[in-house]
Amino acid sequence: MGGAPAVVLGVETSCDETSAAVLAGDDLRSHVILSQDVHKVYAGVVPELAARAHMRVLDAVVDAALGEAGMELGDVDAFGVTAGPGLIGALLVGVTWTNAAAWGLHRPVVGVHHMEGHLFAASLEDPEAVPPFVALLVSGGHTLLLWVPEWGRYELLGETRDDAAGEAFDKVARILGLAYPGGPEIEKAARAADGDPHRFPRPMLSGGQRPGDDDYYAFSFSGLKTAVLNRVEELKAEGRLEAERNGVARSFQQAVIDVLVAKTLRAVEEKDCRRVLIGGGVAASGALRSALAAALDGGRLFHPTPRMATDNGAMIARTAAFRLARGERAGPDLTARADLPFPGLT
Ligand code: KG4
Ligand code: ZN
Repeated sequence: MGGAPAVVLGVETSCDETSAAVLAGDDLRSHVILSQDVHKVYAGVVPELAARAHMRVLDAVVDAALGEAGMELGDVDAFGVTAGPGLIGALLVGVTWTNAAAWGLHRPVVGVHHMEGHLFAASLEDPEAVPPFVALLVSGGHTLLLWVPEWGRYELLGETRDDAAGEAFDKVARILGLAYPGGPEIEKAARAADGDPHRFPRPMLSGGQRPGDDDYYAFSFSGLKTAVLNRVEELKAEGRLEAERNGVARSFQQAVIDVLVAKTLRAVEEKDCRRVLIGGGVAASGALRSALAAALDGGRLFHPTPRMATDNGAMIARTAAFRLARGERAGPDLTARADLPFPGLT
């Protein structure tokens, strides 16, 4: 990794996972992720509770990561922390902690963009998961289709106009009476059904779209969610929701996947590059992975394992190592930004 510091501690607290990881060169020495169960009670993330829970456990999570790596805080050469986007209170816990540790030890620190972190996740498990590739980043807060000719240089092809893909999974799970987070629950329910019994619309996907049209790469999942809600209301009135729950989950999942795959393939054609990388929590979906792999037919699909797909500190350490190796350093004014812009957009 060139001039990268030998040992990087990565800290992630942007949403409802408190995580820390120790990366030594290319070697992931430890990785601790604590998921906050409190949000299950409310079927969604409650920002204030998330921030308080990070504050309670971050010290212990970092200690556990250092212990697993057989190190002490003083052995860390540089720090990386998610500086945004995310929940501002939650982000501030990680950034404040990391700033204090870095400045106390006189070590460099860099703020990491959470979604750039998701872009680096697969490379921790597969050394071939490096640019050039078309990247589909699908999380609870974002849906981004990017062209990545090299690390640090990104072309944004398309993003969602309303709900993110993961957010749609979470909202539809709630409509169906399934637990939070919704993605894995919907995937499980969908496996118990066959075919595409409810044929929901495929938003932003029509044969008439041409390269250059502003909706050619755009996503929208809010209308699909409403279509599911209406269908569920009908089924409830007919007393058939129990019998049809798995079928609705399956058809919803299929509609989302069809759109994600079709738009990704458009980028593959335009960029004439059959290398695709997926990242973000929705990349944990086995259904999405197999649909993309089948559609790519001979191309390469890079994907993180489910633990590396959802929020974690390892991807933050990896991204920080890249930015530190380029000589980037944050000043003492490093702070969190809920709407931090994606770095390196061309
Ligand atoms: O990246 P992530 O952990 O957090 C954010 O940055 O938002 O993504 C979380 C999202 C949730 O919306 C969750 O429902 C979704 O990832 N997710 C899935 C699956 N596993 C997690 N969505 C679809 N299928 C899955 N198997
Ligand atoms: Zn994420």
